[in-house]
Amino acid sequence: LFSRDVTFMLSVVQLSQLPPPNRPEICFAGRSNVGKSSLINALTNRKGIARASNTPGRTRELNYFNVDDRLNLVDLPGYGYARAPKTAISTWTKLTRSFLRGRAGLRRVFLLIDSRHGVKDSDLELMEMLDDAAVTYQLVLTKTDKIKKSELDKVMRRTSRTIGKRPAAHPELMVTSSEKKTGIDDLRAEIATLALA
Ligand code: GTP
Ligand code: MG
Repeated sequence: LFSRDVTFMLSVVQLSQLPPPNRPEICFAGRSNVGKSSLINALTNRKGIARASNTPGRTRELNYFNVDDRLNLVDLPGYGYARAPKTAISTWTKLTRSFLRGRAGLRRVFLLIDSRHGVKDSDLELMEMLDDAAVTYQLVLTKTDKIKKSELDKVMRRTSRTIGKRPAAHPELMVTSSEKKTGIDDLRAEIATLALA
């Protein structure tokens, strides 16, 4: 799927700009700086298709990518970033929340968790909302190149316990590093099955 054509489609800052829901969609959510844009670049094998940055709060709109006319990937703004203006934060929060609860064709939310920090309260809040809306989400540990194997084992166990308690969580935890390309093939395979389903 990803060896085919991947193109940037559009940036959405209000719901009225959303494209028609005529293709399956998956999206990448998570705290600011967790690595959403980097993961999209790794998946699509295109270095700068999604704009990644060391500055938290980089992605401020819903960025749509078209994968081979068969699937849309959506890069979401991160949450938990306190330094942006309050009005801006509330605008992104409303936009992403209404998108996540009401989007037809949304097959799965990949919810990224920084492997160094584990699941935070803000992540649990989002999970609660998705559980309520019965939107399936799958947890993805990111930046695993930054921690030792023993720490990774620990965070994997803790995160799996969280998953076990959440009604709309997909049972399988994904473990990735965009830097080292760990787990990227597995994630691609998972996404391919969603595009075909
Ligand atoms: P926002 O758009 O602000 O919500 O951030 P984001 O979740 O899109 O994060 P982004 O992909 O921009 O990455 C944030 C920082 O983490 C960048 O400096 C990346 O280079 C770095 N980063 C992302 N993934 C990895 C990884 O797998 N390993 C390492 N070592 N660094 C990573
Ligand atoms: Mg981003």
